[in-house]
Amino acid sequence: MFHSKADILQRLLQLRHTVWTPCGKAACSRLVLGIETSCDDTGAAVMDETGSVLGESLRSQKEVHLRTGGIIPIVAQQLHRENIAGVVQEALERSGVNPSQLSAVATTVKPGLALSLGVGLEFSQRFVRQHNKPFIPIHHMEAHALTARLLQPVAFPFLVLLISGGHSLLAVARGVDDFLLLGQTLDEAPGDTLDKVARRLSLIKHPQCSTLSGGQAIELLAKDGDRTRFNFTNPMGKISDCCFSFSGLRNQVTMAIMKKEAEEGIQQGTLLSCVNDFAAATQHIVALHLVKRTHRAILFCKEKGLLPTPSPTLVLSGGVASNQYIRRALTIITETTGLRLICPPAQLCTDNGVMIAWNGVERLREGKGILPPNVDVSYEPKAPLGVDMTAEVKAAAIRIPSVKIKRTT
Ligand code: KG4
Ligand code: ZN
Repeated sequence: MFHSKADILQRLLQLRHTVWTPCGKAACSRLVLGIETSCDDTGAAVMDETGSVLGESLRSQKEVHLRTGGIIPIVAQQLHRENIAGVVQEALERSGVNPSQLSAVATTVKPGLALSLGVGLEFSQRFVRQHNKPFIPIHHMEAHALTARLLQPVAFPFLVLLISGGHSLLAVARGVDDFLLLGQTLDEAPGDTLDKVARRLSLIKHPQCSTLSGGQAIELLAKDGDRTRFNFTNPMGKISDCCFSFSGLRNQVTMAIMKKEAEEGIQQGTLLSCVNDFAAATQHIVALHLVKRTHRAILFCKEKGLLPTPSPTLVLSGGVASNQYIRRALTIITETTGLRLICPPAQLCTDNGVMIAWNGVERLREGKGILPPNVDVSYEPKAPLGVDMTAEVKAAAIRIPSVKIKRTT
């Protein structure tokens, strides 16, 4: 009997891959334990080589960080420390697998919060040494990019837009560990921007939003908002590359909030009457910025023959990719340019252990980046993804035709 969304998703993942099992049963398949602690989610999953999730466990720190007004790294580290052993044990128990049956352990070691990464890495290195298992260090953004291939066949190369609380990047995925970086954020990530705007609007005090992340709160409130009440300008509209910038945009929103607070005669920390309109306008301008940069990346890929014809694909992933308005805005661009848009379900877009286990499976299948248990590995808070092509993209100076994103919610 399956009850929660997570149970249903897990069952779907199991069924999805049953037919792929070469011998017809999971028992003959190699098993990978995936561990994620790069930010504020402690996740673990056991997966077989076909992509069936045998057991999963996820503990989010979201509500703690919402109350403290953002992630405090030392608090995140403490919560990971408290949860990691239990989460891994729960994933193993749910899978009915014992450590001796594992073929490898895959763990996020880059990029992310140093103190958070350290907890997962330290736990994993102790675990692989104790059980004498190979270790597969994982790049968190590589894992977000490859998640789409867990649910359906998506052949390389494909274009990927990864948008989360810590990242914003466009890349061509040419292989499991082979990426061309077309653009990345120059300042903050879109999830960070949405979280900060939500905090500035005190959305935690809104009865419908008290337990939601900033991005979720903005999406919910935007449904009843009028985005045309505020006319924010698309950042870097005149710069012809695929890099992102969200801090100027947040500044525009903050100034407009201050103006409204003065008009309504209220102090910062009190809910404005027009929070829905702010949410709608902010969500729209974030979507527009993402759409414009992605449109240019698609045209660049076409010009340079970087994507297959037919069936070029755009994969959209990362926490912000759960946003339905942003997904629909990107659909307009993919339909206009003839790309297929693939986006994992929301539970797999936000951080989890399944995506790390899957990245481990992809690497195990290809024999890439698998280390013996005794090798010392360091975590890397900052770690670029792939070969940097941002200068080539800028030099190509591709102009994009104007496309209107109509309000669809
Ligand atoms: O990928 P993720 O779980 O963690 C990072 O690697 O950063 O992404 C978390 C981010 C948060 O900033 C959160 O506000 C945002 O994803 N997010 C959303 C939505 N759900 C989560 N942003 C917009 N709309 C959503 N529905
Ligand atoms: Zn992430």
